[in-house]
Amino acid sequence: MGIKWRESLSIGVEDIDNQHRELLRHFDALLGACEAGRGRGELKKLLDFLDEYVQQHFRDEERLQRLYSYPDYEGHLKEHGSFVDRIRTLQEEVARDGVALHHLIETNDLLFKWLVNHISKADMSLGVFLNKAET
Ligand SMILES: [Fe+2]
Repeated sequence: MGIKWRESLSIGVEDIDNQHRELLRHFDALLGACEAGRGRGELKKLLDFLDEYVQQHFRDEERLQRLYSYPDYEGHLKEHGSFVDRIRTLQEEVARDGVALHHLIETNDLLFKWLVNHISKADMSLGVFLNKAET
Protein backbone atom coordinates (compact mmCIF):
# COMPACT_ATOMS: atom_id res chain seq x y z
CA MET A 1 0.00 0.00 0.00
CA GLY A 2 1.75 3.12 -1.20
CA ILE A 3 1.00 6.78 -1.03
CA LYS A 4 0.63 8.89 -4.15
CA TRP A 5 0.41 12.57 -4.84
CA ARG A 6 -3.11 13.75 -5.60
CA GLU A 7 -4.39 17.09 -6.80
CA SER A 8 -6.30 17.68 -3.56
CA LEU A 9 -2.90 18.05 -1.85
CA SER A 10 -1.97 20.98 -4.06
CA ILE A 11 -1.76 24.25 -2.14
CA GLY A 12 -1.72 26.21 -5.43
CA VAL A 13 1.91 27.36 -5.17
CA GLU A 14 3.93 25.50 -7.78
CA ASP A 15 7.36 25.47 -6.14
CA ILE A 16 5.96 24.32 -2.82
CA ASP A 17 3.75 21.70 -4.49
CA ASN A 18 6.80 20.31 -6.30
CA GLN A 19 8.70 20.04 -3.03
CA HIS A 20 5.73 18.28 -1.43
CA ARG A 21 5.62 15.87 -4.40
CA GLU A 22 9.26 15.05 -3.76
CA LEU A 23 8.54 14.43 -0.09
CA LEU A 24 5.69 12.11 -1.01
CA ARG A 25 7.89 10.19 -3.46
CA HIS A 26 10.34 9.48 -0.66
CA PHE A 27 7.56 8.56 1.76
CA ASP A 28 6.15 6.18 -0.84
CA ALA A 29 9.61 4.65 -1.38
CA LEU A 30 9.97 4.05 2.36
CA LEU A 31 6.56 2.36 2.52
CA GLY A 32 7.56 0.20 -0.46
CA ALA A 33 10.85 -0.71 1.22
CA CYS A 34 8.99 -1.61 4.44
CA GLU A 35 6.66 -3.91 2.50
CA ALA A 36 9.62 -5.55 0.81
CA GLY A 37 11.33 -6.06 4.18
CA ARG A 38 14.03 -3.51 3.36
CA GLY A 39 12.74 -0.67 5.51
CA ARG A 40 15.52 -0.76 8.06
CA GLY A 41 18.16 -0.58 5.34
CA GLU A 42 16.49 2.43 3.71
CA LEU A 43 15.75 4.42 6.83
CA LYS A 44 19.12 6.05 7.38
CA LYS A 45 19.22 7.25 3.77
CA LEU A 46 15.72 8.68 4.07
CA LEU A 47 16.51 10.50 7.32
CA ASP A 48 19.61 12.06 5.72
CA PHE A 49 17.51 13.15 2.75
CA LEU A 50 14.82 14.58 5.05
CA ASP A 51 17.33 16.49 7.12
CA GLU A 52 18.52 18.34 4.03
CA TYR A 53 15.15 18.55 2.35
CA VAL A 54 13.29 20.05 5.29
CA GLN A 55 15.83 22.78 5.80
CA GLN A 56 15.51 24.03 2.24
CA HIS A 57 11.77 23.39 1.99
CA PHE A 58 10.87 25.05 5.29
CA ARG A 59 13.16 27.98 4.52
CA ASP A 60 11.35 28.48 1.20
CA GLU A 61 7.92 28.36 2.83
CA GLU A 62 8.98 30.69 5.64
CA ARG A 63 10.54 33.17 3.20
CA LEU A 64 7.23 33.40 1.33
CA GLN A 65 5.39 33.93 4.60
CA ARG A 66 7.65 36.81 5.61
CA LEU A 67 7.44 38.32 2.16
CA TYR A 68 3.64 38.46 2.34
CA SER A 69 3.40 39.11 6.13
CA TYR A 70 1.53 35.88 6.72
CA PRO A 71 -0.50 36.30 9.95
CA ASP A 72 0.13 32.75 11.24
CA TYR A 73 3.89 32.87 10.64
CA GLU A 74 4.78 32.08 14.26
CA GLY A 75 2.42 29.11 14.52
CA HIS A 76 3.63 27.70 11.23
CA LEU A 77 7.25 28.15 12.29
CA LYS A 78 6.57 26.18 15.46
CA GLU A 79 5.18 23.24 13.47
CA HIS A 80 8.23 23.26 11.21
CA GLY A 81 10.48 23.35 14.27
CA SER A 82 8.84 20.28 15.77
CA PHE A 83 9.37 18.30 12.53
CA VAL A 84 13.01 19.31 12.41
CA ASP A 85 13.47 18.29 16.06
CA ARG A 86 11.84 14.89 15.50
CA ILE A 87 13.98 14.18 12.43
CA ARG A 88 17.15 15.18 14.29
CA THR A 89 16.27 12.99 17.27
CA LEU A 90 15.65 10.02 14.98
CA GLN A 91 18.92 10.64 13.14
CA GLU A 92 20.86 10.80 16.39
CA GLU A 93 19.27 7.64 17.77
CA VAL A 94 19.86 5.71 14.53
CA ALA A 95 23.49 6.87 14.39
CA ARG A 96 24.01 5.84 18.02
CA ASP A 97 22.01 2.60 18.28
CA GLY A 98 21.40 1.46 14.70
CA VAL A 99 17.96 1.17 13.10
CA ALA A 100 15.34 -0.47 15.29
CA LEU A 101 11.77 -1.24 14.30
CA HIS A 102 10.40 1.61 16.41
CA HIS A 103 12.48 4.09 14.38
CA LEU A 104 10.70 2.93 11.23
CA ILE A 105 7.32 3.26 12.91
CA GLU A 106 8.16 6.72 14.24
CA THR A 107 9.41 7.91 10.85
CA ASN A 108 6.26 6.66 9.13
CA ASP A 109 4.19 8.35 11.81
CA LEU A 110 6.11 11.62 11.38
CA LEU A 111 5.66 11.60 7.59
CA PHE A 112 2.01 10.67 7.88
CA LYS A 113 1.36 13.51 10.33
CA TRP A 114 3.29 15.90 8.12
CA LEU A 115 1.02 14.96 5.25
CA VAL A 116 -2.29 14.89 7.13
CA ASN A 117 -1.81 17.57 9.78
CA HIS A 118 0.63 19.93 8.18
CA ILE A 119 0.42 19.89 4.37
CA SER A 120 -3.35 19.34 4.30
CA LYS A 121 -4.04 22.02 6.91
CA ALA A 122 -1.29 24.53 7.70
CA ASP A 123 0.26 24.60 4.21
CA MET A 124 -3.18 24.60 2.60
CA SER A 125 -4.17 27.72 4.61
CA LEU A 126 -0.90 29.32 3.54
CA GLY A 127 -1.69 28.51 -0.11
CA VAL A 128 -5.13 30.09 0.12
CA PHE A 129 -3.59 33.20 1.71
CA LEU A 130 -0.79 33.50 -0.86
CA ASN A 131 -3.14 33.04 -3.79
CA LYS A 132 -5.39 35.82 -2.44
CA ALA A 133 -2.39 38.05 -1.76
CA GLU A 134 -1.13 37.69 -5.31
CA THR A 135 -4.42 38.59 -7.01
FE1 LIG B 1 4.75 24.22 6.09
